[in-house]
Amino acid sequence: EVVDVSGHHLIPGGIDMHVHFREPGYTHKEDWGTGTQAAAMGGVTTVFEMPNTNPPTRSAIELRQKQDCAQKACVDFGLYGLLAEDNIDEIPGLIEAGANAFKCFMGNTFGNLPSPSTGAMLEGFELIAASGLRISLHAETASIMAWRQAKLEAAGLSAPLHHIAARPEVVAIEAVARAAILAEWTGARIHVLHISSAGELRPLAEAKARGVDVTGETCPCYLFLDSRDYDRLGSIIRINPPVREEKDSKAIWDALQSGVVDMIATDHAPHTPEEKRKDIIWQADCGFPGVETQMPLMLTEVVAGRMTLEHYVRISSANPARAFGLYPMKGRLAVGAHADIAVLDMAREEIVQAARLHSRGKITPFEGRKTIGAPVHTLVRGCFVQRDRMLVPDMAGHGRQVTDIQSMPEAKPKNIEMSLAHLLSAGAVT
Ligand code: NCD
Ligand code: ZN
Ligand code: ZN
Repeated sequence: EVVDVSGHHLIPGGIDMHVHFREPGYTHKEDWGTGTQAAAMGGVTTVFEMPNTNPPTRSAIELRQKQDCAQKACVDFGLYGLLAEDNIDEIPGLIEAGANAFKCFMGNTFGNLPSPSTGAMLEGFELIAASGLRISLHAETASIMAWRQAKLEAAGLSAPLHHIAARPEVVAIEAVARAAILAEWTGARIHVLHISSAGELRPLAEAKARGVDVTGETCPCYLFLDSRDYDRLGSIIRINPPVREEKDSKAIWDALQSGVVDMIATDHAPHTPEEKRKDIIWQADCGFPGVETQMPLMLTEVVAGRMTLEHYVRISSANPARAFGLYPMKGRLAVGAHADIAVLDMAREEIVQAARLHSRGKITPFEGRKTIGAPVHTLVRGCFVQRDRMLVPDMAGHGRQVTDIQSMPEAKPKNIEMSLAHLLSAGAVT
């Protein structure tokens, strides 16, 4: 069999560390079949799936239940366990059952999971550090958020920008800084999810400079949308954390180029059009699908000269593979049984259309956008799952959990005494 890929580029398949496939519990929004099909169409060959399903992935029992649901995956996957206030005792069981990472919801979002106190986080970080697994943070501080929101609601504000105002960037800045200190203290590896603001970049860069093992991701909505889009998109744009100002997206672009932000993920968070189209922005469920549109949207920027294709491969595949212990088995070009590949036609023009998405969440803030460059074939471990912009039939079940190939050595605490002594000798503490 011969496939003509002349004139095309081969890149390692996308590795998306942040998707919500909604099964079990919310399968009217998505399931493991439709979610991984959307990934295959988007050139994404590995996804890490979030624990805010129903039931949430809070112990070994729910992790095994999710492994059953994921039997129908057509791309490879990792599974997130939950780190919450009330499941710290379940964490060793989750690790034992094969969790590949943890998510800690420091602020409230879809699923209404209880945000852990700093004390619970500390205990969770200690337990997880011993396993080496990375802890991904929904970095927003619940208490500041609740206080601000109550005051704004009392004042009767209902403008669209209310949404931004109620989640000021300081809720994220404080959360990143606090999590970084706990990571420094315990040795835990952390990852800052969905970076939405310029402000978060400072505590992220500072933590990296101190030697904390921290990585950061942003998502297409924070690069391509800003506050000027609220009037046009209405409640569709609702996402946590919110899309912010033009200055934020500019700063995040720069940080993605310079390496302060390590990777692009999608926060693929599908909801139905009925759940998204509301008169009042607050009534809409937060988030929207993205795993299928990320690559064409980003390749359009590559074609426009805003980023090199080499750098795109770093942020979409190599860096996530390194951060989550999948490299070099994934995150680089390989042949044969390890070939996870997206074949790109860099001249292919498409229009983003919600109705044509493979996700069950047929609504997107990128509706009508013209893209240049698309994955025309996707291979997972040497097998086509997408070919000529069509799903390959009967690939359900081809996807495997990455546990066998994941390698995350135990994480050791940084010597805090040493860094205090260093500060003293540098004259920072008198
Ligand atoms: C996510 C979802 O719908 O599960 N929504 C969102 O607005 N980002 C939850 C999350 O990632 O925080
Ligand atoms: Zn989140
Ligand atoms: Zn998310």
